[in-house]
Amino acid sequence: MIDESHSPYNLLSTFGIRLLDDLSALDDSNALAILQIYIVREFRKRTRLPNFSTIVDVAEALKSASNVLVITGAGISTSLGIPDFRSADGIYARLESYNLSDPQEMFDIEVFKSDPSIFYDFSKELLPVERGYSPTHAFIRLLQDKGILLRQYTQNIDDIESSAGIEEARLIQCHGSFKTASCMSCRDRVRGSTLFKDIQEGKIPRCAKCLARQSTRQTSSNDDDDDDDAVFGVMKPDITFFGEQLETRFKEQVLLDRSAADLVLCIGTSLRVAPVSDLPALMPPAVPQVFLSREAAGREYVFDCELLGACDDTVRQLARHVGWQEEFERLVELGKRTKTVEKMNT
Ligand code: OAD
Repeated sequence: MIDESHSPYNLLSTFGIRLLDDLSALDDSNALAILQIYIVREFRKRTRLPNFSTIVDVAEALKSASNVLVITGAGISTSLGIPDFRSADGIYARLESYNLSDPQEMFDIEVFKSDPSIFYDFSKELLPVERGYSPTHAFIRLLQDKGILLRQYTQNIDDIESSAGIEEARLIQCHGSFKTASCMSCRDRVRGSTLFKDIQEGKIPRCAKCLARQSTRQTSSNDDDDDDDAVFGVMKPDITFFGEQLETRFKEQVLLDRSAADLVLCIGTSLRVAPVSDLPALMPPAVPQVFLSREAAGREYVFDCELLGACDDTVRQLARHVGWQEEFERLVELGKRTKTVEKMNT
């Protein structure tokens, strides 16, 4: 295609894709879109590794691993009372109360720009205030303490990983987090926790600097023309909304980690949102891949071992099988005592 010797349409037939007659006059961009779907589908095919299917196999792999790559989602924080997105009691089930047509509009940047109150209404529940961290966060911290955590790719925005002491260099917050927030107008950045009081009280957090500038201008000239857009001086947590770019480290780090990882643990996610959902398929086929969540992944993919159930229980069993029980329980206890805003310094 780069040499222009193959059109996307011709490549479709090279891949053995037969189109309906109605589609035989596809233009290049439509043919390319279809080609992309088939290439990705091919790419996701994976053959299960032989002799790797039980929790004991996972425990043995943990004993010899040096570079565990962990992918996490909302399921690792539900035991702290933070709802996930797609479960029956998840955030997206409350769609009707917000009068939106698609649940993902709750995190749509255009919806936020037209009415930030929708986001601030439900985000109260997602705040990491005084919750400590879960046994699953503790388990990931234990991997770090053992020197075998290559990286945690989290989709979670609650930043509970920081409270659990996961080092910044080991953590990719793929969808950003509540850790910091920026003004939609002047881009001034503040600590996210400075917004929490307003959010909890049902107020839209505003930028102190923009409000001060606005009041000076109004007193001197009555000119407030540029201040009337819906998000003038509105603070937005540095979360990646649909329609925004992912955290910049993500792509570069994935390519580096791809060649280093020797075990992949995918925990508490429905694996429905790209590009994180594509991470397992990007890993070399010989690297064992384990899925730990309450239910099967929301997309077809071959993991070597699926440990279905509450992830806090599963990681506790794993810790026992590996012989890490004592250290694990010690971290779990600390997690109950640690307030989210404090960092654990042990
Ligand atoms: P989902 O809500 O899609 O999936 C969470 C998964 O965790 C579900 O399959 C649950 O069954 C499972 N789960 C819940 N509680 C659990 C528990 N205690 N133990 C084990 N499993 C449990 O959440 P994510 O996959 O994280 O985007 O969603 C990905 C992204 O979609 C989110 O990052 C969010 C959303 O749009 C943004 O925030 C921008």
